[in-house]
This record gives sequence, C-alpha cells and structure tokens, in this order.
Amino acid sequence: RPGAAAAVGHSALDVVMEGLKRLEYRGYDSAGVAVLTPGGVDSRKKSGKLANLVAELEAAPLPDATTGIGHTRWATHGGPTDGNAHPHLADNDRLALIHNGIIENFAELKAELLAAGAVFRSETDTEVAAALLGSIYAGAGNKDLALSMQLACQRLEGAFTLLAVHADSPDTVVAARRNSPLVVGLGDGENFLGSDVSGFIDFTRRAVELGQDQIVTITPDSVEITDFFGAPAEGTEFDVNWDAAAAEKGGYDSFMEKEINDQPQAVADTLLGRSDADGRLTLDELRVSPEELKSINKIMVLACGTSAYAGQVAKYAIEHWCRIPVEVELSHEFRYRDPIVDSNTLIVAISQSGETMDTLMAVRYAKEQGAKVLAICNTNGSTIPREADAVLYTHAGPEIAVASTKAFLAQITATYLLGLYLAQIRGNKFQGEIKDILADLAKVPAKIQQVLDSAEDIKELGKLMADTSSVLFLGRHVGFPVAMEGALKLKELAYIHAEGFAAGELKHGPIALIEEGQPVFVVVPSPRGRDSLHAKVVSNIQEIRARGAKTIVIAEEGDDAVKAYAEHIFYVPETPTLLAPLLTTVPLQIFACVLATAKGYDVDQPRNLAKSVTVE
Ligand code: G6P
Repeated sequence: RPGAAAAVGHSALDVVMEGLKRLEYRGYDSAGVAVLTPGGVDSRKKSGKLANLVAELEAAPLPDATTGIGHTRWATHGGPTDGNAHPHLADNDRLALIHNGIIENFAELKAELLAAGAVFRSETDTEVAAALLGSIYAGAGNKDLALSMQLACQRLEGAFTLLAVHADSPDTVVAARRNSPLVVGLGDGENFLGSDVSGFIDFTRRAVELGQDQIVTITPDSVEITDFFGAPAEGTEFDVNWDAAAAEKGGYDSFMEKEINDQPQAVADTLLGRSDADGRLTLDELRVSPEELKSINKIMVLACGTSAYAGQVAKYAIEHWCRIPVEVELSHEFRYRDPIVDSNTLIVAISQSGETMDTLMAVRYAKEQGAKVLAICNTNGSTIPREADAVLYTHAGPEIAVASTKAFLAQITATYLLGLYLAQIRGNKFQGEIKDILADLAKVPAKIQQVLDSAEDIKELGKLMADTSSVLFLGRHVGFPVAMEGALKLKELAYIHAEGFAAGELKHGPIALIEEGQPVFVVVPSPRGRDSLHAKVVSNIQEIRARGAKTIVIAEEGDDAVKAYAEHIFYVPETPTLLAPLLTTVPLQIFACVLATAKGYDVDQPRNLAKSVTVE
C-alpha cells in the first residue's frame, strides 16, 4: 500500500523524496508530491516507479518549499495512471491530499458531492476524500484545516491515513488515521509524518505513534493531536532503534540478497535476552500473565503468506512441546466460517508488517469472541501488536524486499520461544529439556551462516535453471511448510509455476505431474529423526525419479544414503528435526533469488505484489 511523508522545515521536496524512496516498497505503481508555495499548492505525479516521478521533477521542477507531502501508490480504486496518482487537489486546487487505505462509503459521498457541483478528475476514492475535505473547509469559512479534517473523518468509513496541506496554512500539515498506519517524527524546528519510521529515519530518531481515530497537526515547532471530535489526545513517544544503514542495501545488489544474508543476525537478535543462564524463558514483555496462559486449551495461528507458513512450522513444535492443539488458518478464511474460539483460545497472529488488513480483521473478530490475542510482529508501533493483548516482537530489523525472508526465520524463532515458554509455565517439559532446546537454538545462527557461506552451488543451479517453467517442492513434517515456502518464493520472485506438496500426498495426485525432466526439490528429514520419515521420503524420491523427475535434494550433512538418488544435493548442518526449517529454507530462498535475478527481474519489488497489504 502507499506510503506518505511530509516535512515542515528542511527543503520539503528533498525530505519527501528521500522518504518516498524508503517507503517505495509499500506500493510502487505511481507516485506524486505536492508542496506549498507562497501563492498556492503545486504538485507533480506520475504513474510507474518513483524514478518516473524523479524524471518528471527534473523536466518540470517544483519551486523551493518547506512544507510538502508525497505518496507512493498501490492501486485499489482506479488503475495506476498519472491522473489516479496522489496527491488529489480540491478547493480550487488550493488543497492537496494523499491517502492510504480504502474509503468504503466513497460512492455515496461522491454522489452527494457531485450533486453539490464537485468535479472529479480521477476514479479514486481518495479524490472523494479530498473533495469532501475541500467542501467542508470552503463551507466553514474559518480557515481551520484541522477542524475540517475532524468533520471529514466523521463522515468517512473504512481504512485511511490522510495527509492534507492547504495554501491558506503555509507551515502546516494535517493528518488523520483510522485502521491504517501513521507515525510522527519529531525534529528540531521541523517535524515529519510517515507511514512508518523509515519515511523519516534520515532526519530524526524520535517518533510518536498515533492511536486509532486520531488527527495530528504538525508545524515546524508543534505537534498537536486530537481525536476525530477535537478532544486533545496523546501519542506514545518512542526512539527508533533501527539503524539508517540497516534500511540500506549494505553493499548487496538487492534488499532481498541483503536480507537473506541478515538471517543469522535476525535469528540471534530474536533469541537475545529472552532466556536466562539456567535455560528459563523470560518473556516478561508479553503483557499477559502466566496464569492466563495456563488456562488456554487451544491455540489458533492466524496469518497470511509467508507468515502463515511460519505458523505451520510452529504447529509441529508447539503441539510437540506443549501438548496443546494448534490450528493454523489463513486470516482471511478464519472469520467467515464461524470458527470455534472462546476465552480459552489463544490466537497467535503472525505478521511481519503488523498492518496486514486480513490479519487485523481476524484479530478483531477473535477478540470479539473473547479470545486472547498474542501478536508475533516485526514492526514496532504497528496496528496488530497495538490491538493484541500480548506481543512478542521478532527482531529481524526492517525488511524491505517485498517477499519475506529474514522475517520468516525470525517468526519461526519467536514461535519456538513461545512454545517453550508455554511448556515451561504449564509444566509440560522438564527444565533441563527446555535448556537443551534453547542451547540448540543458540547454535542455529552460526549454522545459517554456514549455509550462506556454502551457497555457491545452489546459486550456480539457480542460474542454470533460469529457463525452467515449472518446479515442484516436496517435504514432510516440518519440511512440508518449508516446501510450500520454497514454492512461494519462486512464484513471487521468478513468476514461475511452483507448488509445494506434502511428500506423502504425492501418490494421491501430484505424482501425475511428474514427467521427464520435471525439476523437484525435496526437503529430506534428518536420518537421525524418529518414525522412519527419512526412509519414506527417500522412497518418494525413488518414485519420482523412476518417472523422469530431476531431483534436487536438501539434506542433512552426513546423509549419504540419499545422495545416490539426487541429481543435485545441498547439505545443511545437523540440527534437531523441529529446528531444521531455520536451515533448510535458506537454500530455497537463495535459489529463487538467484534464478529471478538471472531472468532480469527486480527481486525487491516483484510485479503485482506489495509488502504490506492493507486492504482485505
Ligand atoms: C504480503 C507480502 C508477503 C507477506 C504477506 C503477509 O502478501 O507480499 O511477503 O508474507 O503479505 O504479510 P505480514 O506483514 O502480515 O507478515
């Protein structure tokens, strides 16, 4: 979804463009800016990536200004055209407005405004919000943009972050938020707004998180917050602990590559400070008491995309360690099927961004049913953790590439910590066992590093397979969600048809897909594991090889038995079966990234996708 940035103080255009560059990952099908000039409002907007707007600004420069707003869009209402790009103007082009989210009652408002003589130049719901604000402002005659914003917000339904400037108020930006993110950056003689802190990270580390249904007015030296009815309100100030360099590519060609390589750190940071020397989990940050957690009799994991696969991995670990039933469901399916949840259900909502609308709505629904909600999230100050009863942050740092990598491993790590914590407080495991598992987890970052350091062969294979049109992935037990994640990465990055299957399901249908030369990745369980799973998966490999498949195997170091059946084999270090996804996923991420790069695709911003999907 779109991002927004505004500045009062510095050269507004520089600040806004820098912010848009950092926020572009949120949506990138068109972009625009507006600045306040002595005589009015001046704006430029262009469809396509931000580079098109940069070119437009070179061809038709904007005057110097100290107040401005900017936006990068991911289209919902109206295609990605110049005209539909934000900002949208109103009040005789003296007011400019940008918007994230969806105005659900826009059709009704538009009819009303049209009847009153308004003229629309785009198909967007945003222009309706601009026209509404413009007509309220013009009608009131008091030149109070904040008050007009309050009145406009009282009429708007849906999800929105709105930022507006008006020629009558040269040093002022007024913004509002409902169900959509907005953060204030506090500067010295200047203030900022952004969809997230990366919008202003170059200028300040002090930020204020706004609450639901709030309006904020910034000038160079003031920040005033109210609710939608003008009552004074307060935001929560926090320091941004993200390093500005962390938001850069750090020498890699793409954020995706950097983030894949950040994974040892992401897992280590997520483990950091969450257990003591005796192997006791210390998750005091959870905001939910051990007594409350003792009373739960079911866990439901709700998430979308990659985060949902992290949830599927979690199911194996948490059920095994805690003996609590764990269901995993896609957030958007959950609330439409009359699910059985009550006050003894713990909802675990996993979201990297903390803004995914499907998951947010599922969280709200679950809370209405009386369930307790624990969020596993990577973004401080985002909506899902704020609305949840409890939160366990993944400390993966900013994830910029649209397709998730390091957040996935950090999410799995966080669910393991949660599972072990539940086992500890519910007495399902001896402290000694928990300590052993934590010790194994502590060794994982170095093992991921080993996988990264020995990735040359998988990279080579990625390049060789650039012309492949279909790839299958098989896995069993925790290897099953890993297979699905491997397939998802390939779909997202390389636009190749890819499917992940449970290896045991092969014979019930998918085996019909196997023909001569069909590449199949197989995530093989450790031969040291129980239940002869290894032997079963090796049999599956033989079955598909017999039908012509080209098998590419991810196996544990020392697994010589499987070598004979693999066209290509990639080894990962030994680790307990439940922790293996933290290693086996990595070669699959690298494969997809290299293959997509070889095809010439932008791995950071794959077509049609967005990093945080704030629409249902
Ligand atoms: C989008 C992204 C995916 C991500 C999913 C869930 O679809 O493109 O990479 O896995 O949203 O996002 P979340 O922020 O809730 O984890």
